[in-house]
Amino acid sequence: MKKPIGIFDSGVGGLTVYKAIRASFPEEDLIYFGDTARVPYGPKSPNTIVEYSVQNARFLIQQGIKTLIVACNTSSAVALDALHELTSIPIIGVIAPGAEVAVRTSHNGRIGVIGTEGTIRSEAYSKAIKALRPEAEVFSFACPLFVPIVEEGWQDHPIAFEVARQYLQELIDLEIDTIVLGCTHYPLLSHIIAKVLGPGISLVDSAEAITQYLGMLIPAEHDGIQGKDSFFVSDNEQKFATLASRILSSNPTTLKRVRLFESWFID
Ligand code: DGL
Repeated sequence: MKKPIGIFDSGVGGLTVYKAIRASFPEEDLIYFGDTARVPYGPKSPNTIVEYSVQNARFLIQQGIKTLIVACNTSSAVALDALHELTSIPIIGVIAPGAEVAVRTSHNGRIGVIGTEGTIRSEAYSKAIKALRPEAEVFSFACPLFVPIVEEGWQDHPIAFEVARQYLQELIDLEIDTIVLGCTHYPLLSHIIAKVLGPGISLVDSAEAITQYLGMLIPAEHDGIQGKDSFFVSDNEQKFATLASRILSSNPTTLKRVRLFESWFID
């Protein structure tokens, strides 16, 4: 009996991670949970992000997963320690793989990081990059408007280009040669980000980076049977399905809504 790999995100953006994993591990069973009732995590406090992440992980652990992928950069930035306390199964967040690829990619050691407010505030990428390359200079910027632009399906709208120009001009002036797309949604804007930054700056997509990590961690299934996909959300299946079909270029099969928060507690 195959045990599935569990992937969670605050919503639909983590499907960029799911897609990269599915492409590299066709025979693995994958369970994706998107916390669409409580997205976005980016502007929320670390305590809240930890609570939500623990609930999401509990749900996936109940489904019998063998490995947990934290696709959400904001959760990866603040909740990994709490998740390790919850379970002994391997847990991979997106920060370490993204930082490693950035360090390998950069020639001049000047690295940009863009992400949500929560991810940037945590300095998780900056710390992970400096741990690997102490002399690196890391320049981090929150780009909160990128998430709603992607969710509106405006990746190719002139507004996306204008917003990217506003956010990224400062990074161009800082002479970075590498930029980490430190948010699940940003790979969907990579064409715009690359156009604004110009040809001399390499883009690091942590969705791609995480698949290399996963390959080192688990022996890939080779039973010749196509892996199963199950999708769960905490709200709004229809909106998830619409956005998912745009990201995956196919409709998500077996999509169900779950309730993670039956009981509430007062501190
Ligand atoms: N999934 C989040 C991340 O990668 C972006 C969306 C949100 O703010 O929840 O940081």
